[in-house]
Amino acid sequence: MKKTALRIAHFKDSIFGVMSKLARDNNAVNLGQGFPDFDGPQWLKDLAKDKIEQGHGQYAPFMGTPSLRSSVSSYYKRFYQLDYNPDSEITITAGATEGLFISILGSIDPGDEVIVLEPFYDSYVSSIEMAGGVAVPVTLHAPDFNIIESELMRAITSKTKMIIVNNPHNPSGKVWEKNELEIIVKLAIKHDLFVISDEVYEFLVFDGAKHFPLAQFPGMRERTFTISSAGKTFGLTGWKTGWICAPPDLTKAVRLVHQYVTFSVATPMQEAIADGLNRLEDYLPEFRSTYKAKRDFFFEGLKKLGFEFSIPRGTYFMMVPIKSKTTKNDVEFAMELVQERKLATVPPSAFYLKSKEGQSYLRFCFAKNQSTLEAALKNLEGL
Ligand SMILES: Cc1ncc(COP(=O)(O)O)c(C=O)c1O
Repeated sequence: MKKTALRIAHFKDSIFGVMSKLARDNNAVNLGQGFPDFDGPQWLKDLAKDKIEQGHGQYAPFMGTPSLRSSVSSYYKRFYQLDYNPDSEITITAGATEGLFISILGSIDPGDEVIVLEPFYDSYVSSIEMAGGVAVPVTLHAPDFNIIESELMRAITSKTKMIIVNNPHNPSGKVWEKNELEIIVKLAIKHDLFVISDEVYEFLVFDGAKHFPLAQFPGMRERTFTISSAGKTFGLTGWKTGWICAPPDLTKAVRLVHQYVTFSVATPMQEAIADGLNRLEDYLPEFRSTYKAKRDFFFEGLKKLGFEFSIPRGTYFMMVPIKSKTTKNDVEFAMELVQERKLATVPPSAFYLKSKEGQSYLRFCFAKNQSTLEAALKNLEGL
């Protein structure tokens, strides 16, 4: 019997799948999965139904429908003063995950090094490896998940081709300050690197925090793949629709891959999201206040239970320090919680290649119904 590809032989089931199975097997409250346990806005679902009724039943143009590319272009202009040409600089993808994969596959060659800032979203490293590249970790140090410029400088070699940045940051909830992004900008320009800026949580920022797209910085637009996702912005992760904004030469590369990997993304969803993005200004205040209320409630609850950490200013995740509660590492403690406390979380050491810092934390997702959050806090009582 022939063997399947060596390229993927060392891949394991993702930590999200493992924890979700454990949650089901133990009938546990699930704060592990990184998506809402409630649906996105009714008006957008109604729009999608209308779009299906109106037709839109055949393949979309492979780079995305004109309406969605035009809406994406329009919101980057309105929110960030970034001007992307819908025909030559915007590509619609099957979620940000495909956007990440095709940006990597379209720009690195076997042996190229790609800097990943750990803790990282787990598809980065797998995508780099599938492209034959080498992921080189640089740690964002807990508790504030700060980058240290000298560490980033040391990681860059003559083989470095790209750096991947995620802002706002999963799993820490960090929203990068301008001066921290300038460290990336300076080195990316100096070493002529491609940059993937994963900005899927661009609109989930609280307490006056401001999101700065990397492409806004001088010298960055021409080297940056900016990636985002309607799944996150509208709380409809199952719609799996995202986009890449990049200059024409980089867009050409991602489209060459996209046409043979996915070809095109579900047409009615694209049409509905195109209308949805045109209403962002009306939609976002309630979206933010809903998630802020969840964050505040859960953070206060954890504080009362004796967990001490700074409140995150973005995303729907918290990295919660566990050392005051246990001598176990993150994986062991996550197992204890799911089996004995009926609460599923994610042990973040899966998001690191080098540092052991993740072993002192658990990641909680607070994009959940009030009843789910209350049940989770109850299950933690008396720890
Ligand atoms: C940082 C980050 N990037 C990308 C994604 C994937 O987004 P999508 O569902 O649009 O593929 C996620 C999903 O959790 C994420 O957290």
